[in-house]
Amino acid sequence: MSKITLRDLKVKGQRVLVRVDFNVPTEERDGQIAITDDTRIRESLPTINYLREQGAKVILMAHFGRPKGKPVEKYSLRPVADYLHTLIDHPVAFSTDTVGKIPEEIISHMNEGDVTLLENVRFHPGEEANDPAFSEALAKLGDLYVNDAFGAAHRAHASTAGITKFVQQSAMGFLMEKEIKYLSGELAKPDKPFVVILGGSKVSDKIGVIKALMEKADAILIGGAMANTFWKAQGVPIGASRVEADKLDLAREIVELAKEKGVRFLLPVDAVEADKIEAGATARNTSRVTETHGIREGWQAVDIGHATVSLYQDEIAGAKTILWNGPVGIFEIPAFAEGTIAIAEALARSDATTIIGGGDSVTAVKQAVLADKMTFISTGGGASLELIEGKELPGIAALSDR
Ligand code: 3PG
Repeated sequence: MSKITLRDLKVKGQRVLVRVDFNVPTEERDGQIAITDDTRIRESLPTINYLREQGAKVILMAHFGRPKGKPVEKYSLRPVADYLHTLIDHPVAFSTDTVGKIPEEIISHMNEGDVTLLENVRFHPGEEANDPAFSEALAKLGDLYVNDAFGAAHRAHASTAGITKFVQQSAMGFLMEKEIKYLSGELAKPDKPFVVILGGSKVSDKIGVIKALMEKADAILIGGAMANTFWKAQGVPIGASRVEADKLDLAREIVELAKEKGVRFLLPVDAVEADKIEAGATARNTSRVTETHGIREGWQAVDIGHATVSLYQDEIAGAKTILWNGPVGIFEIPAFAEGTIAIAEALARSDATTIIGGGDSVTAVKQAVLADKMTFISTGGGASLELIEGKELPGIAALSDR
């Protein structure tokens, strides 16, 4: 690995600025903001705890939502500071401003092992603009910089990239290191057979990933609304299903590319079709699709069907490495979630290295209570896809070279 890590820093007594990704899902309960999935916060704990144990003063920077460069109360990180306090069993000071006098004053009173969380960096326009003046103001609050915000590493913002120009050393945290190890390291030379399951709604969102994975995968299994675009490109009737009608040529191009590369590119062979996308809709399993027989007119494909599940399960059972990104059906509606759950269960049963590449498939695995059965679950959404695609992420590129 070409970048320095947390272990390379001498942190005792130092003010260490740590960029974390605390952009967690929340909901309002009895007028209070409640965190509905704390994975990203928990995954930052190894870095935070290590720094505390080593006698650093830990200053956490994070974004929350997209407040567009101005303070918006519902995007305040204060509830996260309170929550973090319960996880580390040590007070977490909260700075109501991100830069300037308020955090400077709080930080000047910090002792070794103390933790301060700064207010949402995106309350300042300089954050997303990667403004050097804002980067410098952030850097002034610390001596060393650690980036553990893998989920935001694809953003070239002040707290993820620009800041490194104004501190002596910038290192990756333990979460960042782990994400790179799996999404970049393991997937660079996967144990074969390497099977990829790709779902989600759009081919266009995944095109870079599909092309990159063609170089390594033995089989790519397609699900989700993305499959409709491939079906339509092959003439299979798709009824009123969601489709990217302007991406049919792209779909054909991908199928050709798979043939050229010798990758088995599998589309669903049947589907669950429904008359509406809502709980309580009438749904049924189609028979096997052909060029003349697919989804009924006016109906929509909402999940992979039983024959596809069994086909994909066989592929999964024979794999040594599996990457899954994107649900294969509209799993938010229980009646359309069977296919996605069956995929999660097949991965859980497998002895292969199983990597869940971020986004909604992570939610699905957690809903199925199978998260602890997977080898690795990424905390990134867009960042995971870009890393798998082989892109250089600004938040990693900006760190100090080894
Ligand atoms: C995420 O939730 O994917 C990251 O925190 C990045 O957030 P963003 O898409 O608002 O930049």
